[in-house]
Formats: sequence, structure tokens, C-alpha cells
Amino acid sequence: MDYLSIKGPVRLEGEVEISGAKNAALPLIAATLLSDEPCTIENVPEVADIHTLLKLFGKLGSRFIFEDHTLTIDNEAIENTRATYEIVKTMRASILVLGPLLARFGHCEVSLPGGCAIGQRPIDLHLKALEQMGALIEIKNGYVMATAPEGLVGTRIIFDKITVTGSENIIMAAALARGKSELINVAKEPEVVQLCEVLAQAGVSIEGIGTDELIIHGTDRQPLKLDPFSIIPDRIEAGTYLCAAAITYGSITLNGVIADHLDAVTAKLHEAGCRIETEENSMTIYPAAKLKAFEISTTEYPGFPTDMQAQFMALATQAEGVSIIEERLFENRFMHVSELQRLGASIHLKGHTATLNGPIQLLGADVMATDLRASSALVLAGLAASGVTNLHRIYHLDRGYEALHEKLEKLGADIRRLKE
Ligand code: UD1
Repeated sequence: MDYLSIKGPVRLEGEVEISGAKNAALPLIAATLLSDEPCTIENVPEVADIHTLLKLFGKLGSRFIFEDHTLTIDNEAIENTRATYEIVKTMRASILVLGPLLARFGHCEVSLPGGCAIGQRPIDLHLKALEQMGALIEIKNGYVMATAPEGLVGTRIIFDKITVTGSENIIMAAALARGKSELINVAKEPEVVQLCEVLAQAGVSIEGIGTDELIIHGTDRQPLKLDPFSIIPDRIEAGTYLCAAAITYGSITLNGVIADHLDAVTAKLHEAGCRIETEENSMTIYPAAKLKAFEISTTEYPGFPTDMQAQFMALATQAEGVSIIEERLFENRFMHVSELQRLGASIHLKGHTATLNGPIQLLGADVMATDLRASSALVLAGLAASGVTNLHRIYHLDRGYEALHEKLEKLGADIRRLKE
């Protein structure tokens, strides 16, 4: 197993290229199941989660070539519609094949994802919506066994809670359903919006794209023809590099970003004292004179993303005053707290709220990655800490950050990837 050895403190300077968004690529690759012709997707990030999904596609009978961030995928010959436990357990987002497989083939079996480090994360809303569309669903031997012998039928669905992958699953199902689906309280994340845009480009009539109410006219199982498209930039990767600049009092230019997608994040960085200049496809962050404490409450887009909560907690350790960070989406997404405390952070955790006192001179230590974003927070803390921070179990980072170590090294970090 590899680990990262980071020597701090450093001041990061330079330019970084932002990769395609993992969380947009996953549903869009799943959406290729709605087609029986080859599809080409560009700007696909080279991260472990994408390889995991492609491994699943390989088992389903899909043929693909993934080279130089371009994926050409042909799902014409798919015969198998079973997503097995061995893959789903390593990546919850595998559940994204449920909607499209059921919509195109009328049956599928997908392993239940089970527990997860950041909380319970049920899929009840995905299943309830599919049942409303006429699916028969049984949970048997740890699998969701879904059938829709007559095909799925469009209907009015009100999501009890906003769910990103739940919205994506049902949007894909509705695209091939019979008749009109009205989806209410849909997630508005840019990744959901891109999924809708790609389906609309393929001829599916979708009204309300970008809002929380969608009307989708399904094709009644007529497979789609997907035009080539390119994955949107990863706003969470971009936000992480903005925090890396902020925490090291450095200055970084991010290339290949959509600044609008980062509004909630950049607003907090302004509050913390940083200056950000935006151009068409790039943004530059300039250091604060002195980082100031801030308050954060995670919520759905366009609010502050839960996927940036951990990174801002690392930043708060360096901000003057009392910062308050409330996690409202996932009950257990504070695994990084005890690891940040190992580096010397002053954090008081009560229920869903962390209170931090800063600034604290962090001191390097051995720390453990526990989930994807918690791991990136520990990298940021390691850049600011004095001495060596060894971050173990970095397979979590590999799931979602393309070439993190190389990109940080190019920005001036003293970072090495080593074998345990
Ligand atoms: C997606 C993102 C993840 C991000 C999260 C919230 C992908 C691949 N992953 O995860 O990076 O952190 O959105 O922005 O895009 N819930 C239910 N029942 C359900 C589904 C969800 O109760 O059937 C709850 C969850 O437990 C959670 C909340 O709804 O409390 C939001 O979860 P959801 O939006 O579904 O997260 P994911 O789609 O899994």
C-alpha cells in the first residue's frame, strides 16, 4: 500500500490543470447504458472510481477503450444485468447503473451498497421512485432485484429529500420510460445538470433543466444516440486546490474551471480573507494578509458542498478566531477531526457541529485517510504543518483526485509517494 509523505510548511505557487468531474463522469458513463451504439466521452478523469465503474461495465459485457481521458464505449452487446457485491461494495456510486439497466432491459440485479464511512447512506429514495414508475423491487440475498416487464411508466415523483445519485438514477430511468415523468425536489448540482443536457442533446425532451422540477418525456424504451461530449471540470478538485493555496498563503491559478460552480466555496474564501480573480476558464487565488475565522453549514447545491467541508476544516485550523462548521448532509462525516487533532488542531465536536480555535501551528504526524474528502483535508493540513506528515491509506485519495501528488509537487509541495 502507498502512503504520502509531506514536508511542511510550504507556500504553493503556480498553475494547475483541473480534471474532469468524477461525479459527473460516473452518471454519464452509466447513461451510456441507455444507448446501444458507441459513445465517446472526453475529459474523463483518470481516477480509481472511474476504473471501478468500467470494471463493472466490462462484467456487464460492455466494450470500451479508455485512453488519454477519452472513453469510447459500446454497450450494444450487454447481456448481463447484474452488478455484483464485489464491485458495488468498493464504490457506492455503482448504484447508478440501476436506473438505466432497468429502463433499457426491463430487469437487473444490483448489490445493496451497505454501510459507508461517512454515514448510513440509504438508497430507499431511488427504489421508491422506481416502484412509482412501475418497477417491482425485491431485496434478496443482499441484492436489489428489479423488474419492469412492461417497461417503466412516467409518473409524478416527489423526492422526500434531495439526493444527487437518486435524482440521476430516476432521470435516466425516465428518459427511457413510457410517457411523461414529473420529478419534484430534484438535485440541482452541476453534475445533474450536465446529465440532463446530454440526454436532451440525445433527443429526450426535458423541461426545467437546472431547476428542482423536471418534466421528462421518455422514449418508451427506444435506445438513445449520444453525441460526443466532454465532462465538466471537477468543482471539488478545484475547491481543494483553492484551499491548498489559502492554507499555505500561496497563490495558484486554476485552469479549466467553471467559476460559477464554485460560488459558495469562493464566497467563504473571501470571508477568510483571500482574494480570487476569475477569467473565462480560469481563476487565481491570492493569499489573505491573515486568514480569518468563518462559519459554514453544508447543504445542497448551490449551497456550500459537503464534499468541501473537510478541506475547510483544515483551513480553519489556520484562521484567526473561532470557526464553526456544521455538517447537515451526512451524520458521520467528521472522521478527519481526530486525525487533524493528531496534528495539533483545536477542534471541539458536538453533534453535527465542529468548533475550531485558530490559528494553531500544526506539527507533522502519522495520520490515516478515512474517506475521499477527509483525506484531502489531511493533505492540506500536512502542507501547513511543520515537519513530516505521513498520510496512510491513500487509496481513498486515488478514488477521486487525479495525479494529486504530481500536481502538488508542480506547485512546489515537498511531497513523496512511498510504499509502506
Ligand atoms: C453524491 C456525491 C457525493 C456527495 C453527495 C452530497 C456522487 C457520486 N456522489 O452522493 O460526493 O457528497 O452527493 O452532495 O455524485 N439519502 C436518503 N435516501 C436515499 C438517498 C439519499 O436518505 O435514497 C440521504 C443520504 O443519506 C444523505 C442525503 O440524502 O443524507 C444526500 O445524499 P445523496 O445526495 O443521495 O448523496 P449521494 O448521491 O450518495
